[in-house]
This record gives sequence, structure tokens and C-alpha cells, in this order.
Amino acid sequence: MFSYLSRSNLQLCLAWICVLCYSQASKEQNTSTYFLYNENSTDTKHVDPCLPMHVHISFGSNVLDITVLWATLKDCPGKVKFGIHPWGLESTVNSMNIYFDEQNREGLHYLHKVELKGLQPDTTYFYIPMSDQMQSGPFYFKTPKADSDWSADFLMFGDLGIYSDTVPSLVTEALSGKYTALFHVGDFAYDMKNEGGRVGDYFFDLIEPAAASIPYMTCPGNHEIDLESFAHYRHRFAMPGSKWPLPMNKMWYSIDIGLVHFVSYSSEVFFTHNGKYVNEQKDWLIRDLDKANNNRHKVPWIVVFGHRPLYCSTNIGDDCSHSDSRVREGLEDVFYKLSVDIVIQGHEHNYERLWPLYKHKVLAHSYIDPPAPVQLISGAAGSVENVDHFPMKVKPEWSAFRLDTQAINSYGRMLVVNESHVFWEQRSIQNHLTLDSIWIVKSRNQTQVSSTTSKPGLSEEAKTLLSEMCNRSFVRCHRVLILSLCGGVFLLVAVSLAVRVAVRKKRKENFAKTWSQLPEEIDSDDEIGGNRGM
Ligand SMILES: [Fe+2]
Repeated sequence: MFSYLSRSNLQLCLAWICVLCYSQASKEQNTSTYFLYNENSTDTKHVDPCLPMHVHISFGSNVLDITVLWATLKDCPGKVKFGIHPWGLESTVNSMNIYFDEQNREGLHYLHKVELKGLQPDTTYFYIPMSDQMQSGPFYFKTPKADSDWSADFLMFGDLGIYSDTVPSLVTEALSGKYTALFHVGDFAYDMKNEGGRVGDYFFDLIEPAAASIPYMTCPGNHEIDLESFAHYRHRFAMPGSKWPLPMNKMWYSIDIGLVHFVSYSSEVFFTHNGKYVNEQKDWLIRDLDKANNNRHKVPWIVVFGHRPLYCSTNIGDDCSHSDSRVREGLEDVFYKLSVDIVIQGHEHNYERLWPLYKHKVLAHSYIDPPAPVQLISGAAGSVENVDHFPMKVKPEWSAFRLDTQAINSYGRMLVVNESHVFWEQRSIQNHLTLDSIWIVKSRNQTQVSSTTSKPGLSEEAKTLLSEMCNRSFVRCHRVLILSLCGGVFLLVAVSLAVRVAVRKKRKENFAKTWSQLPEEIDSDDEIGGNRGM
């Protein structure tokens, strides 16, 4: 009896344990803890482990391809449902998922990417990112027009952190429907990797309303270096023409948007990996810009953007203030000789506009048919490092206009009106003041000259720049030729070996055949000989 009760109790206990375990597991499946970043606390909220968070979009290989990214707490299969009617999202594309834990111990580990390709121009799309059965949104975006002949507004700024007061204004701007894209010129969150990745998560929470509605286009800054891994930048963003996560040797890209050929470059190649990627990027830039010059008749403006400036009149020891600035020495010739129109930069936490200049020499005191790229520094969107002050001394001749304290919490707007006129303004969130504005004008003659002198193949300027690069590094410049030669030699050796083996085999076969015939003849001789002996 005792043993029976005991067994019965034991069975009961086991059953209860199973029920408790199951209910606990169900709870864990239904909600997970998401840490809300706060400097002084560990505030949390409970969310479904599959809930899509940090939704943001960017252009794919062209403006009619949109890439959607989001993150989840757990590994859940993802997809995007989308369509042009908010109540009937008839199309579905499954996501590519990656696990991201490098420099991201506490952050969301599961990232999802979907490419919506071949969309209709000038059309509003509604979309819902889904992971398993959980969804967020609906969000929406509008594709640009198909041709290039239309005016476009862009938001452009650098150096935006999680404590910036600029974020609400940027979100309001982004949701106004006026802008075609949002360009963030490096330095995100301060830093995405901090607190094991939670700062990055919080930044994407903040920026989601804007970045899920208009393409959020980026370049890396020094705060993305992450022990030279660029881990958060490479995983959390997907940019045109690159694999995902972004490869270390392709954190640069270009895309035509309306009348502008935009080029994103990495100023960080000059400060990381012992400059290993400097020439690779430069080579790509020369070819890309040359191609863009050949296409000026369709896309007349070339705007490049990268984090650290070529010049600056702050005096806090940054590269741009050095006489032997690495970024300037690496890029000034390329931008000048390949006729870049505008260079947008950040890093300095202030605002500065330069006269068109080359090698420290001012070439014009206006922006009408500028003889050199127009350089703008807009790094005042809101870092955690406060303002970078200008020294009291008189500003250099090439510095046309600059603001430090007054520029804090400001951002740039670029209105590309047509093939000859671009309007730039720096806006403060304080009373929505315009701090600075200019018209950049290219006369029709100049645009026509650019287009009529364009010929297929590399221009003389591009050829000169590439030949300079060849002189510096023969192996790098001729790597394709060297690899082809090596490949050719390898193929030749392989073929000759194969021929030798085949010949040997054939010889062996012939020998065996001859040998197999030989004994019969000998045997018959023996028989004859034997007969002789008889
Ligand atoms: Fe920076």
C-alpha cells in the first residue's frame, strides 16, 4: 500500500512539474524582456520575442528597390507584406536573417532584411514587417519618379546621438512627405556598441518613425569603428551595391536619385587597418565618378558625402586641421579633378561652409559655376560631445561662414531644383531658424560642356589619377592582370599535365596491347622450334 501511494504521489509530482515547466516555457515564448536604455536604470518592457523592432528602410540598387531591415529578440522567420492599398497587402517577400552578437552582447541579436524590388515609380506603398506571426506597423513610403527630371528635397546631417533634441524635428520633417531621402553622414547614437549594444537599440527605437518612412542612407564615422570591426554599422545597415552584412572592403556606394549622383565614401579607411582599404576605395571612386561624369546629361549633379572633412577651421587636433590631413591628401585630387559639385561632411560638431578651393587656395568667392567642389560641414545634429568651438583667431580665407554654439541642434536641407540650381540651407530646431543658406548655380553652358565632352571610357583626368595609383602600387593596380596571368599559367600547367598523363596512359595501353600479342607469336615460334628439334 505504502509503495503504491508513494508511486502515485511521485507520478502526481512529475505531472505537476511537467505542467509548471510547460506553462513557464509558454510564458517565455509569449514575452521577452527588452531593456529600455537608460543611463541610470534597467527599465524594461515586455515584448513578444518575435516583434519586429528598429524598422528602417534604404534604397537598393536603384530608387525603385527598397530594402527593409528590422530586429527581433529571438530567431523567428521573417517576411514583409506590402502593397499599394493599406487594407490589402497582397504581396509577400521572405526575409534573409542573420545572427549578430559581435560587440552586441546585450542588444537584439536577430536581424532581418527584405528587398522589395521593381516597385512602381511615384507610388505610395504600405508595408508590414512580420516575424513569425508578430507584426509591426503598418509603415509606408513613397517611391520617387522614374525619370530624373524632377525637384527633390533631401535631409542631410552628421553626428546624431540618443540625447539629441534634434530627433523629434527630424521625425516631423521626415513625415512631412517633402523629402526623398535622409542622409546621416556618420557617427550614430554615441555609440551603437555601448552598453553591449543597448545604446544602438535605443537609437533605432528613436529614429524608427523617420527611418521607416523615407530611405535612411548612411556612411560610417569614427564612432562606428568598434575596434576596427565596424560590427554595428556593417550589420545594422544595408546599402546599395553591397552584400549584407556590409563587407569591410565595400563600405562605400553610389546611387542616382533624380538629378543627383550621390556617392557615399568612408573617411575611416584612412584611420583603420593600416590604410589597407585606402586605394581600393580610391580606385572605385575614380571609376564611379568618371562614369557619373559621362552621364551628366541625364544626372547633372554629383554630391559626395563622408564623415571626416577635408578642411575645417576648428582647432581641436582633428585630421582636417592638420597640414598633412590624411583625408584631404587622399581625396582632394579625386573630387577636384573629377568635378564633384558638392561635398557634405560631419565630424566637427558645428557648421561650416567653405568657398570653392583646391590645395588651400580659394578659386572663387561665389557659388556660381564653382570651379571646385563646394564643401559643407554639417555635424551639429546632436552628439554627446557638445560643441566644437572655433578658435578666436580670424577664420581662414577659405572659410566662408561658420557657426559653433548657435549651430547646435541643426541639420541640412538640400533642394535640388533642376539641372542648374541647388539650394542648401542649415536649419536650427530653435524657432525653425535658417542659420545659413546658399544657391549653387551651374550655368547651362557648363552643364552642356560636361555632357558634350563626355566620351565612353575613362576620361583623361581619371586615367591620370589611375596611373598615379599604379605608380604607387604596381601589384594593386595590376592585380587583375597579375591574377589573369597566374590563372593562365596554372591552366597551362594543368593542361600540359593532363596531356602527359593521357599520353602515358595511351602508351601503356599500346604497350600492353603489343605485349599481349607477343607471347602468342613466341609460343608459335616455340612450337615451330620444338618441331625443329623433333
Ligand atoms: Fe566623428
